[in-house]
Amino acid sequence: MAKYRIAWLPGDGIGNDVMEAARIVLDGLQLDAEYIHGDIGWEFWIREGDPLPQRTLKILSETDCALFGAITSKPKDEAAKELDPSLQGKGYEYFSPIVRLRQELNLHTNLRPCKAYAGNPLNYRDGIDLVIFRENSEGLYSGIEFHPVPDSIIEAFSIHPKMKRFTDTPGSEMAISTRIMTRAACERIVRKAFEFAKKYNRRNVTIVDKPNVLRETGGLMIRTARKVAEEYPNIPMWETNIDAQCMWLVKNPADYDVLVAENMFGDIISDLAAQLVGGLGFAASGNIGDNYAVFEPTHGSAPKYAGMYKVNPMAMLLTTKMMLDWLGEMDMATRLEDAITRVIEEGKIRTYDMGGSSTSLEMAEAVKAYL
Ligand code: NAI
Ligand code: MG
Repeated sequence: MAKYRIAWLPGDGIGNDVMEAARIVLDGLQLDAEYIHGDIGWEFWIREGDPLPQRTLKILSETDCALFGAITSKPKDEAAKELDPSLQGKGYEYFSPIVRLRQELNLHTNLRPCKAYAGNPLNYRDGIDLVIFRENSEGLYSGIEFHPVPDSIIEAFSIHPKMKRFTDTPGSEMAISTRIMTRAACERIVRKAFEFAKKYNRRNVTIVDKPNVLRETGGLMIRTARKVAEEYPNIPMWETNIDAQCMWLVKNPADYDVLVAENMFGDIISDLAAQLVGGLGFAASGNIGDNYAVFEPTHGSAPKYAGMYKVNPMAMLLTTKMMLDWLGEMDMATRLEDAITRVIEEGKIRTYDMGGSSTSLEMAEAVKAYL
């Protein structure tokens, strides 16, 4: 039996292209793994009314971790129109399978490293090496939203004095999204970040929120973080507001190291940080829980490039490196990153986004050659 069982989820569009690239380097590394294909994505929504079928969840429950490409996702109403006619009007409702994966498997930590590899023509600046810890399971993306807002909710909210301004607005004319944060989740994400900083000798940890406006949720995050920070007296903790942090990241990106944020703010700063080091073609991520993890590049299915092997596979290869790290295959992870570093630095094999015309698979082969 292979040492690892890895769920293999290409998904849609360029998800397939970049997963093929990942397989080239994994085979080059001779990782002792069995890859088990799982269905996920738009095709399964249209055909079955479920973009994350039960059989795929079963595969996830029987594997060590998953490597995931990308999926196509659409707003609820648009999705409903594309559903197979035989399934329409039968109560099927579209939910993003990625959000469902995160919630159902409790993948509470979203890890997004953003590093400016030497020689990458897309680097905004050299010397950037950020790691973002985004809380992945609650906050503004909890999905607890109302529209129209039921009377019972309006009534319950009315105990808050600031709700007075909305008393004349009927529930049908408003929408409410909740930002639910628990002390346990705040503590967990902050601790993960400090543990990481300690393990990898990182310089500082920055907590990004907006406690001056979001007094209760942001306040809970900051107070909890300060308490955790006491356990790590040698690692300075900085506190910043999300809006200012966006500015600082553009002005002095090299000053920052480990960043921690709630779900939505983490989403925002991760995209900003990713663009500083090459954009979607370089943005890797891991959704990590206590016993399972799903690794995926940040980009989507880019339908216009599907099957053309044109897109940059580096995001996927860096994602693969993260998976190897998580599995404890440090030596392979280092070899892969070193090979990626060499290919970027040499600059001979580049995909279109880097100003070249190499294919996704040529790039993967070039990395494989240096393993
Ligand atoms: P996208 O990330 O798929 O592509 C946007 C553009 O970024 C592409 O047209 C391309 O120019 C560039 N790009 C993306 N990946 C690249 C790569 N590896 N190398 C070079 N260039 C790259 O975002 P878009 O177009 O907004 O969404 C397309 C579909 O993907 C939608 O259905 C969306 O919902 C879904 N999506 C899925 C995600 C996921 O699976 N995690 C994340 C984001 C979007
Ligand atoms: Mg995002």
